[in-house]
This record gives sequence, C-alpha cells and structure tokens, in this order.
Amino acid sequence: MSTAPMTQTELLTDLEQVVEENLNRHLSVAKEWFPHEYVPWSEGRNFDGVLGGEAWTVEDSQISDVARSSLIVNLLTEDNLPSYHHEIASLFGRDAAWGSWVHRWTAEEGRHGIAIRDYLLTTRAVDPNQLEQLRMDHMASGYQSAHSQDLVRSLAYVSFQELATRVSHRNTGKLTNDAVADQLLTRVAADENLHMIFYRNLLGAALELSPNQTMIAINDVVSTFQMPGADISGFQRKAVEMAIAGVYDLRQHRDEVVMPVLRYWKVFEVEGLDSEGEKARGDLANFLDELEKQALRFEDKRDALQARMAARAG
Ligand SMILES: [Fe+2]
Ligand SMILES: [Fe+2]
Repeated sequence: MSTAPMTQTELLTDLEQVVEENLNRHLSVAKEWFPHEYVPWSEGRNFDGVLGGEAWTVEDSQISDVARSSLIVNLLTEDNLPSYHHEIASLFGRDAAWGSWVHRWTAEEGRHGIAIRDYLLTTRAVDPNQLEQLRMDHMASGYQSAHSQDLVRSLAYVSFQELATRVSHRNTGKLTNDAVADQLLTRVAADENLHMIFYRNLLGAALELSPNQTMIAINDVVSTFQMPGADISGFQRKAVEMAIAGVYDLRQHRDEVVMPVLRYWKVFEVEGLDSEGEKARGDLANFLDELEKQALRFEDKRDALQARMAARAG
C-alpha cells in the first residue's frame, strides 16, 4: 500500500514554522559583508570604446585559461538570478516566512554576481565583450529547473546545488592563484554554505512529514542532477576542463556534495517507508554505487592525462 503524497499547499503550510525557524537561524549567523571591499579598484582602467581606453588582451591577466573559464561559468550561473528568483517565488510564494526567505536569498545571491563581476572587470581577468555577450545569451534563454512546480524536488535540488556552488566557488578561488580572488570566492562560498544549510534543514523536515514522497524526490534529483549553468554555451567543454583542474568533478560531486547531504538526512535509516518509498531508496543506493564507479573511472582518466601532460612538459 502506498501513501498519498502531500499537496504543495499542505507542504507549504506544514513547513511554514520550519521556514521561520531557519530564516531566523540564517539571519543570526549570516555576517554582513560588502562586495566593494573585495575588489582591487586601483588596478582598474578604462576600456576601449566610449571612453577610449585600452582594449582587453589576454596578457592583461595572469590567471590560467581554466581559471578564467571557471570564473566565467560561476559568474554566468550567478547572473541568471532573475530566473531562479522566478522559480522559487512561484513555488514558495511571497508571503510570510517563505516570502521573506525568497527576498533575502535573492538579495544575497545578487551580491555574488555584483562582487565577481566587479572583480573580473577591475582586474581585467576576462574579455569584457565576450563576458557580456555570454551573459546576454545565457540570460535571454532563461533558466527553468527540471523540478519547477514540485516543492519537495526543488528543495532537494537546491540543497545539493547550493553545496555544489560552494565547492565550485571555493576551488575556483584556489585555482586563480590570486589571493584577492581567493578571498572573494571564499566569502561567496561561505554564503552558499548557509543557503545549503537552510534548504537541507527544510528538506529534512519534509522527510519527516512525508517520507515516501520525499524519498522519491531525493532519488529523482540525485540521479538526474545537473548544475544550473549546464546550458551556458560551451558549458560541456568548460565543465570537462574544470573537472580536470579540480574545480568540480565527479569525485567531489559524490563525496563532498551528494553524500554529506544524504548522510545528514539519514536517508538509509528512515523507517516505515511504503513499497514506493523503499523502491526509491533502493534505486538511490544503486545509483550511488554507479556514481562511485564513474568517479573511480574519472580519477583514472584524469591521472593518466596529467601524467601524459607532465611527461610532455618534462
Ligand atoms: Fe551565489
Ligand atoms: Fe546560494
């Protein structure tokens, strides 16, 4: 026998208290910070065009091509905030604690795009024309989550996605070999971690409230996970380069994103699931085994590639 899933309205109502508690928790631990303090403005100069400055050239910046690609992917991902806002505002609503979270979260995410863009343009780390063309292209196609219109799936997705973003920002910072960029991206990554905690706690409450429905959602989300920037033009090639460089790869995805969140929810200890819930959990376990194999294969390929590159360089 299976249990009927809760409706969106029931979930919104029953989780309201948890949202309020976690919003208050978030506000009490989130530290105020100012994006302008992280940008080395004195390094900036005018560009060509309207102000007749100097055109960007690749020699303007010391960072590697792959660090540049990562910074662009991370910024474009942040840039699509209006679409993400639309997604969560439609789903969570704009009332009471849900609405306060939607607006607060949007404001915090907006800061990320501002800070990273200011840094990139001031330090001439990226081609500003290309960046703007990519931004137009990416935002004009909008973003729609594979899980929009489903509250539990969306909460599961953003729990992983915020943590994935944290890992990606953090490792991009290290990859730049630039203390100023690293400091900024570490600061942004700290925000993403707090976002992850908010969503993770909320989904944890959903798992108690409606375990079968939530288990099915978790399995769906984990087994189809894609980064929100996956539709950036040229993303697949950039993603491979970023994986090889250690910004975000399958090993990190499994060990640093998927597993810690699943462990926090104690998904393999939940009791009293119906047959559909048990099936979802079984599928999830199989998927995690497969992900482990894929991560091992990735590590082998990466190590072989790095050995070949080292041999060529030596
Ligand atoms: Fe962000
Ligand atoms: Fe975030």
